Amino acid sequence: MAKVSIIGAGNVGATTAYFIAKQNIADVVLVDVVEGMPQSKSNDFLHASGSLGFECGIHGTNDYAEIADSDVVVHTAGIPRKPGMDRMDLLKTNVGIAKTAAQQIRRYAPRAIIVGVANPLDVICMVLYRESGFDIRRVVGMAGVLDSTRFQYFMAEKLGGWPGDAKAMVLGGHGDSMVPVSAYTSYAGFGTDELLDDATVEALANRTKTGGGEIVKHLKTGSAYYAPAASVAKMAEGMITDRKRICAASAYLRGEYGYHDVFLGVPVKLGTNGVEEIYELPLSAEQKSALDSSAEHVAEGVKTLESIYSVG
Ligand code: NAI
Ligand code: 2OP
Repeated sequence: MAKVSIIGAGNVGATTAYFIAKQNIADVVLVDVVEGMPQSKSNDFLHASGSLGFECGIHGTNDYAEIADSDVVVHTAGIPRKPGMDRMDLLKTNVGIAKTAAQQIRRYAPRAIIVGVANPLDVICMVLYRESGFDIRRVVGMAGVLDSTRFQYFMAEKLGGWPGDAKAMVLGGHGDSMVPVSAYTSYAGFGTDELLDDATVEALANRTKTGGGEIVKHLKTGSAYYAPAASVAKMAEGMITDRKRICAASAYLRGEYGYHDVFLGVPVKLGTNGVEEIYELPLSAEQKSALDSSAEHVAEGVKTLESIYSVG
């Protein structure tokens, strides 16, 4: 059985553990700094195994040593947004947490693939990459699957159909500047332009951009976790089973789309080696300009990261 360790047993971490175990994808280790919490959540899950019929183990711990031999390590540790916050506002706190986690991953699970989740996603992926010292293709961020899944849902809702019939592609940084690309979005094989007028497609794309913020606004105490956890489970399953799944994810770019030294959401192929390929989709001038702005926003975050590094 494969092994997935999840750093941070809060809302996203614990829900991811549940989805992974429920689908019998891998044994799960849940790590958190709060004493007793990952242990009790794991025990609670295990009590449900008979009813739900899963065979995977779930183990909670405060000890990073227990992530040894993981195939995938998911980094969800960090504070979430509150109403009125931008994801970049989380940077200062979450950088320190990511540094610690990455160093522990390097120490105990050097052959794993790291899936970054904590926000601001694309900048935190840079921290995970630098501090783990992992090969660049073994660090990947989860956001594009989530953002695309939201676009799919909003489209299906508008058409009165099933989200599973929709395909969407959302590129760029995981923030308000993300770029839902309607040219690569379809419903049951039909292009969006065949089913919906331009204004409707634009409204759905805009709702996708603010989909996470909508949840924060209503939840008040944190951010989304069911759809994020399902997205992480989908990526982990794709890599563990070497499915060669193609999806949008935050990957380190070395010239792709004209960007260098930045993690950004792009279409990738995921397999047992992590990011096995990055695809460069032809984009219209308007889409490329939107992607440039998004990349610039992430690059600003990386500059702030450098200033955090220089003071400590
Ligand atoms: P949460 O507050 O429910 O859970 C975070 C957990 O991290 C807490 O249990 C905390 O004790 C733990 N933690 C803190 N420092 C730690 C350390 N050094 N080692 C281990 N555990 C540690 O937050 P939630 O909702 O689970 O969100 C987690 C992060 O994921 C946030 O930064 C949030 O913004 C981000 N997020 C990103 C998404 C994406 O699409 N990339 C989607 C949803 C959330
Ligand atoms: C979201 O988009 C919190 O970034 C997370 O829901």
